[in-house]
Amino acid sequence: MKDAINIDYALSAELIENIKKDPMGDWFDIPDNHSKEELQKIKEVAEKVRNESDYLVCIGIGGSYLGARAIYEALDLSETAKCKLLFAGNSMSSRALKKVLKKIEGKDFSINVISKSGTTLEPAIAFRVLKQALIDKYGEEGAKKRIVATTDPETGALHDEAKKNGYETFEIPFGVGGRYSVLTAVGLFPLAVAGCNIDKLLEGARNCKDTQLNLNALENSMLVSYAFSRFYLYDECGCDTEVLASFEPNLMYFNEWWKQLFGESEGKNHQGIFPASVIYSTDLHSLGQYMQEGRRNIFETFIKLSPEKDPLTVPDLKDDSDGLAYVEGKAFTEITDKALEATIKAHDAGGISTFTIEVLDSESESGISELSLGFLIFFFETACAMSSMLHGVNPFDQPGVEKYKKEMFHLLGKE
Ligand code: PA5
Repeated sequence: MKDAINIDYALSAELIENIKKDPMGDWFDIPDNHSKEELQKIKEVAEKVRNESDYLVCIGIGGSYLGARAIYEALDLSETAKCKLLFAGNSMSSRALKKVLKKIEGKDFSINVISKSGTTLEPAIAFRVLKQALIDKYGEEGAKKRIVATTDPETGALHDEAKKNGYETFEIPFGVGGRYSVLTAVGLFPLAVAGCNIDKLLEGARNCKDTQLNLNALENSMLVSYAFSRFYLYDECGCDTEVLASFEPNLMYFNEWWKQLFGESEGKNHQGIFPASVIYSTDLHSLGQYMQEGRRNIFETFIKLSPEKDPLTVPDLKDDSDGLAYVEGKAFTEITDKALEATIKAHDAGGISTFTIEVLDSESESGISELSLGFLIFFFETACAMSSMLHGVNPFDQPGVEKYKKEMFHLLGKE
């Protein structure tokens, strides 16, 4: 692909400079310049929460939610966390919120309410309900000590409430928008509570920046190649849908984070590549049919994880009447690798362009480590910002999201 499209490296350097100069481009600096004091505070408050709570309920939506959830699930932290994370305020479903209330019944819990604007309805109403649950259990003053607010440093209802009640707070810098905020306290604090190594996440992002965005070596950058190739496929080949694909169910929320990042950044002015996702092999038995033979307006990006250290194997049974002799003794990972290879081959033959991003993390139990996740997050954030600029749209605003809110507030009678 790289050879076919003739990438304009001077333009890619210009786009990187544009990101740096943009008032909403401060996330680009985070891997190198994260404040040491804030990281220390994140770790200290996380330790306190971990010691006094069975659960930390993270309240937030969109960019104030998906990054932490993506990493929590990808690393399988619910298996090891002393204080587990629960997620609330990411929908308006009373049923979903009741499930969270049921989980925390009789348990010790704290709350991390995350909202940059401090006025988003979903987290705000969930916060009311959960604040009431905290007060019922720990009293007014006890409740205040169990709330951590992550919000704008100067304005907004949540900022004001936190200040008035003396909640512990973390700031979301002005120049970092929601979907680019996972490497700020938005993602780092809850992940630190759950036992994630947040220094490694930042190191991974730094590795990405150093290796992929070195202005003197952009010709070797897979990131630049990805950003330009996807735009080429859209602009020249009519591919207006990108499907992020992997064979690991733990990456389901990573896919959700990725879709939000690209969808909210690129989909403007009737432009943009529609971001979709699949988890194979589950989806080979559903969307796989469309991928193979449906409309040819799709390209596919695979994330391939490292092989598992100690995978299950197909048992060697005396009775072979199930016809499985050909896979007997084989590791599930070997079978998965063959399925991935076969899928790429079949989709390629069916007219789908594919990219493969291979994660090499032999040490990690979950097939992906903090280091690799930090790398991937920064990789996709930067590729997304560059790609949006190629489409001629602002990667950092979301005017379309405001439209439904206006209608909804009107219907609900908000002044
Ligand atoms: O990426 C974005 O900017 C959005 O998805 C926001 O994160 C989301 O709407 C939540 O906003 P807030 O953090 O202000 O509650």
